[in-house]
Amino acid sequence: MPASQARGNRGSETPCDLEDFLRRSTQAVNQALNRFLPKESAKPATLHRAMRYSLFAGGKRLRPALCLAAAQACGGNWADAMPLACAVECIHTYSLIHDDLPAMDDDDFRRGKPTNHKVFGEGIAILAGDALLTQAFEIAAQSHGWPRYSHRDIVREISVAAGSRQLVAGQVADLEGEGRKTTAKELKYIHERKTSALLSCSVRLGGMSANCTPSQLQALTRFGYYVGLAFQVIDDILDVTQTSEKLGKTAGKDVQARKATYPAIVGLDRSRQIARRLTAQAFSALRNLDQRAAALRALADFLLQRDH
Ligand code: IPE
Ligand code: IPE
Ligand code: MG
Ligand code: MG
Ligand code: MG
Repeated sequence: MPASQARGNRGSETPCDLEDFLRRSTQAVNQALNRFLPKESAKPATLHRAMRYSLFAGGKRLRPALCLAAAQACGGNWADAMPLACAVECIHTYSLIHDDLPAMDDDDFRRGKPTNHKVFGEGIAILAGDALLTQAFEIAAQSHGWPRYSHRDIVREISVAAGSRQLVAGQVADLEGEGRKTTAKELKYIHERKTSALLSCSVRLGGMSANCTPSQLQALTRFGYYVGLAFQVIDDILDVTQTSEKLGKTAGKDVQARKATYPAIVGLDRSRQIARRLTAQAFSALRNLDQRAAALRALADFLLQRDH
């Protein structure tokens, strides 16, 4: 039995075929994003080509998958969650385009292709990022509210996660941490914001789209928080242990840029232990959810085992 089924399964719970879930969710998300985004030919064509170039470059679509799995876990459906799943992926892709800019991580490859600014130039890459961030709100505006969560709650949720106290704050601290001795506490601050906030937002939005109960929302929040922290620890480990071909982005960049990472401050073995512990905490956050959370549990396990 694959690890994802073994660990994702609890007692009498029906195992989740995660490979099939991810294939279907990625296809559905790609189709929806294609519908939501302006056509390449729409003016200004260079900008729309640049937005689509990064959006359809072959990302793993993990945040939308988490959003859809969370909706399912609370008895909701993919159709209601889809605009929110797509909005999150637009924000994630914008953050990657800007993260790769020469003024930030200065990376040449992303999702197996030359980075946005390498193809379109820095000016268009900045603007494509701006436009994807804004696009996310246009898409989110297409979802309706739910009895427990108003449209206003949804907009606020996305704004806070992507804003100056969360994702952007994390990116600021990441930049300021370069080449400097960082404590584990400071590193946690960075990871909570630059990565965990958007992962947590993804699962919370999925739950909200299912009109989840306050206790379900609390479980999803804790789950997203721990999975998000584990996700960045693993990203940092993979930067050291994998090849650029496997990652679709240049490996070994964190050491070169003297980034604050877990492998840099506690070593690889301890980093792996931390990722496993965080994933276990994510699992335990879901203990009161029933077997409809099977895909969510399988995803947490898959994120821990991933090699790219
Ligand atoms: C990369 O995220 C950036 C981090 C927050 C670590 P992903 O590994 O999800 O990147 P894509 O979407 O698959 O390209
Ligand atoms: C990226 O973190 C986080 C955001 C883009 C918000 P990293 O800089 O570690 O991501 P990669 O390794 O370039 O994908
Ligand atoms: Mg970065
Ligand atoms: Mg980077
Ligand atoms: Mg990284």
